[in-house]
Amino acid sequence: MKQSAFILLVEDNENFRLILQEALESAGFHVTGAANVTRAREAMTLGKFDLSILDVRLPDGNGIELMREFRQSDPDMGIIIMTGYAEVDTAIDAVRLGANDFLKKPFDIDEMLVRIGELMKTRQLKKDNISLREQVRGQDVVGLIGHCDGIRKLQETIKLLANSDSTVLISGESGSGKEVLAKALHKSGSRSGKPMVSINCGAIPEELLESELFGHVKGAFTGAIRARPGRFEIANGGTIFLDEIGDMSPKLQVKLLRVLQERCFEPVGSQQSIQVDVRVIAATHRNLEAEIEAGRFREDLYYRLNVIPLQLPPLRERGDDIFLIADHFLNRFNSEKSSDITGVSDDVKRAMLAYHWPGNVRELQNLIERVTTLKRQGVMELEDLPSRMLSERDRVLKSFQMDVQSASNIDLKATVDEFESHLILSALQRFDWNKNRAANFLAMNRTTLVEKIKKKGLQPAGS
Ligand SMILES: Nc1ncnc2c1ncn2[C@@H]1O[C@H](COP(=O)(O)OP(=O)(O)OP(=O)(O)O)[C@@H](O)[C@H]1O
Ligand SMILES: [Mg+2]
Repeated sequence: MKQSAFILLVEDNENFRLILQEALESAGFHVTGAANVTRAREAMTLGKFDLSILDVRLPDGNGIELMREFRQSDPDMGIIIMTGYAEVDTAIDAVRLGANDFLKKPFDIDEMLVRIGELMKTRQLKKDNISLREQVRGQDVVGLIGHCDGIRKLQETIKLLANSDSTVLISGESGSGKEVLAKALHKSGSRSGKPMVSINCGAIPEELLESELFGHVKGAFTGAIRARPGRFEIANGGTIFLDEIGDMSPKLQVKLLRVLQERCFEPVGSQQSIQVDVRVIAATHRNLEAEIEAGRFREDLYYRLNVIPLQLPPLRERGDDIFLIADHFLNRFNSEKSSDITGVSDDVKRAMLAYHWPGNVRELQNLIERVTTLKRQGVMELEDLPSRMLSERDRVLKSFQMDVQSASNIDLKATVDEFESHLILSALQRFDWNKNRAANFLAMNRTTLVEKIKKKGLQPAGS
């Protein structure tokens, strides 16, 4: 049997320790031996062990005490206690206090190996179980991480729509998770066993897009040497995800409208209609109503698509979700890149809340990936942020800079007061009058903020 587990063996009787060590090593384990509590503690600080085997009576202390220490520093490590012949109570105590198993001296070495094997097996099972649970949990959100109202509502809607075939129109800024949401809808629905076929309607020239979507017959155009099915046909029984639908040409909009109305279409160069059973999810970062106004998007198509409109909030409106998502990416990139960025500093948190995130979740993802790659370990600090993330405050200040040259006179105190009121009010509005968050955002304490609100007589609009 091939073993690769690391074992810490604590036993003061040198001969006995060497015998055990040899037996364990020939079974394939990596063994570190320690003759006393001090050496055992040293060994624990050096690296991680899968298992420790502890004698109870040690020259400079007690194995049970040591076990309690080890339990605290590494709850996952397996622990076996070796007790003397007459120490049945000690053994029971040991198990009650957290040992996984005990061996009564004298014991048979094969017996020890069997016990270790069993212990390793249950530990592995537990580990598998945990990672399975994590995977399932990960899948549950399918990347749509978040607790804020906007995301919660979407998560609930996904569940509600699980057995619906209704057409969905997702809108949201670039990088806000439109594709993630589309996948979540598909995966949680009754069509999840069938394919979800995606196509970006913005990236492909009209002619090509038409044959990509609807397929073509042999000889339909130069180069069409054989017939080819389109994405609608490939997606039959499943879902088609039409990304950047707002970029589709008027001609294709007509053709798509017919698919939505009748679930049928003709491939390029063909007179014969093909019938399909496809659920349509479309997405756009454009404001389709404005596109309709401008005559670029068909109103009838819009109503066909907009059966269930889902709106992804921009990241800057998701409050603390920023940290949740940042954590998610920290975990992911730390393990992908074997880096160890343990978190973000309070200053970074404040900057993150204040930043407007034009690239939304994708921008946050890129930031974390960059920091894990370049910094590798420690806590993320302000200096790790790109300068555009720091300039927000400067920009606000700039917009309030008075033209000193052209003013006839300036009342400094009144102007500063006014500026202060404006900043406080804006911060309160931004966080829905949540004073904790506004205070945090303004880097002041809550009590001071409350005092200022009172003194300045600030109130929510409309109250
Ligand atoms: N709520 C979320 N939690 C975790 N990761 C997310 C979340 N939303 C988006 N992501 C991640 O952010 C990235 C961008 O998401 P996605 O591609 O779905 O955005 P999009 O709105 O389709 O962007 P675009 O407009 O550029 O096409 C992806 O890597 C995705 O996994
Ligand atoms: Mg997208």
